[in-house]
Amino acid sequence: MTQSLADMRRDYTRDGLSEANAPAEPFELFRQWFQDAVQTEQPPVEPNAMTLATVDAEGRPHCRVLLLKALDDRGFTFFSNYDSAKAEQLEACPFAAMTFFWPSLERQVRIEGRVEKVSVAESDAYYQVRPLGSRLGAWASPQSHVIRDRAELERLLAETEQRFLDQAPHCPPHWGGYRLLPERMEFWQGRPSRLHDRLNYRRLASDWQRERLAP
Ligand SMILES: Cc1cc2nc3c(=O)[nH]c(=O)nc-3n(C[C@H](O)[C@H](O)[C@H](O)COP(=O)(O)O)c2cc1C
Repeated sequence: MTQSLADMRRDYTRDGLSEANAPAEPFELFRQWFQDAVQTEQPPVEPNAMTLATVDAEGRPHCRVLLLKALDDRGFTFFSNYDSAKAEQLEACPFAAMTFFWPSLERQVRIEGRVEKVSVAESDAYYQVRPLGSRLGAWASPQSHVIRDRAELERLLAETEQRFLDQAPHCPPHWGGYRLLPERMEFWQGRPSRLHDRLNYRRLASDWQRERLAP
């Protein structure tokens, strides 16, 4: 290692987040920040990539990176395999947390809430706009299960290609979307000397309460 971990740090100077500029409602602020990220972040950063944390039946946390694929007034939608490890965890505990990190903007957003499956119609609609390779992969890959080697995966894909030689693949029953319904959304803007801005929105019965958290 050329630089010691203890010496690795950046000062954040790009922007601030004040109550005066932040809307009363967090979805609007997320949309603004997401647009900023789409315009500002450069590859290899994927603005819609986020870390999703789930908890298993023993209370142990697990997290992995996923892509956000839809956002509406209900919540944040991602797609995955309904037989995967994360699916089993969401079955045991239907709550999750997601974190977006946009490094060029020095911004983080944390979202927490209950998770539900989206309708079959929504999963079908998204499945159909995926590239063919991804649609076949959803059938072929037993996500999160142990496979013998790479050759087994390629064999599973070849079998799937044979199966759908004469017909377009339809959405597998073991694949689809989940929607996180936020109860808390926190917007973090890096500031100099670690005096960061944190605005936290908590869902009340009919609207949102906004509060500032210490960094
Ligand atoms: C940039 C990136 C994007 C990803 N997007 C997805 C996704 O949208 N859906 C998905 O199921 N897995 C996605 N993955 C793979 C997951 O991180 C993970 O390996 C997979 O979902 C299995 O997780 P699990 O075993 O905890 O269920 C992505 C990984 C990376 C690095």
